[in-house]
Amino acid sequence: MSEPLVLGIETSCDETGVGLVRGQTLLFDAIASSVDQHARFGGVVPEVASRAHLEAMVPTIERACREAGVRLQDVDAVSVTAGPGLAGALLVGVASAKALALGLGVPLFGVNHLAAHVAVDVVEHGPLPEPTMGLLVSGGHSNLLLVPDVTHDIRSLGATIDDAAGEAFDKVARVLGLPFPGGPHIDRVAREGDQVAIDFPRGLTSGRDLQRHRFDYSFSGLKTAVARWVQAREDAGEPVPVADVAASFQEAVVDVLTRKAVLACSEHGVEDLLIGGGVAANSRLRSLAQERCDAAGIRLRVPRPGLCTDNGAMVAALGAQMLVRGRQASRLDLPADSSQPV
Ligand code: KG4
Ligand code: ZN
Repeated sequence: MSEPLVLGIETSCDETGVGLVRGQTLLFDAIASSVDQHARFGGVVPEVASRAHLEAMVPTIERACREAGVRLQDVDAVSVTAGPGLAGALLVGVASAKALALGLGVPLFGVNHLAAHVAVDVVEHGPLPEPTMGLLVSGGHSNLLLVPDVTHDIRSLGATIDDAAGEAFDKVARVLGLPFPGGPHIDRVAREGDQVAIDFPRGLTSGRDLQRHRFDYSFSGLKTAVARWVQAREDAGEPVPVADVAASFQEAVVDVLTRKAVLACSEHGVEDLLIGGGVAANSRLRSLAQERCDAAGIRLRVPRPGLCTDNGAMVAALGAQMLVRGRQASRLDLPADSSQPV
């Protein structure tokens, strides 16, 4: 028998993603994004996202099948992000996946969004070492995950106690007058700047804070420090060195992210670090992580940027691994759970 064909649906935020994976091979990853509809609000508007998912769902499924050269009736299982995410947005994906699984008479797998961000790397770099350490950094999450088995055993070592890393990028970009979403713009502007120009704070990295929050992150104090620094310049009538601020802010974020990720690997005896989520597209995060992993003897895996941001391929990739490992399928009353833990 040929390897199973799995269709994955992702609708937890503003991307409608439909991926088709056969075994561990990605056939096609179709994405429709409503990001442009949110840009003028400076953040994702849940109601707008839900409506956009509803409109995009059928055309995106059709496009994925057409581009992958497969027929819907050849799909062996359907997987879908059941949480965490925006409740209304998740519901559109979950309802669509149930209808498909029921209509096709195939198993349904409701999967965790964070687990899927980790699982996607199999289509790029092959089977995941067990255990793998996962650093997930996006607009909604900043988590350190110890992953003995991505299909059913993921342990959260730490998470942000306030803003997510991507959220901090987006908020600082706004302070600097850069468009939403700000991460890619800060990344670009920072290349012209000096990363040691301004010594911005590194949250939860020393003393009692570190003791109490060994693998947690905090970016809200950093964001406020940047805003105050910029405001002081403006109040003094001096020009704001945007590139230096961007580079110094970015350095503070990636320094803390990589430092704690490498520490988690060494304390838990894990030799493989995987970075995923939208912020994993950041060029400085990639280079500093590589440098620190090399120094610590850790192998680094980072999927290509298109697989780091939210997509359907990651959900299909996890569904395929669940099917192959014989994990129990979800029932047709599978709920969407906006705050689902890993
Ligand atoms: O994973 P994702 O597409 O959606 C969420 O689940 O949030 O991540 C989006 C986030 C945004 O905050 C965006 O600014 C950030 O990822 N991002 C970046 C870069 N590309 C995207 N942050 C820093 N550098 C980048 N190159
Ligand atoms: Zn995500």
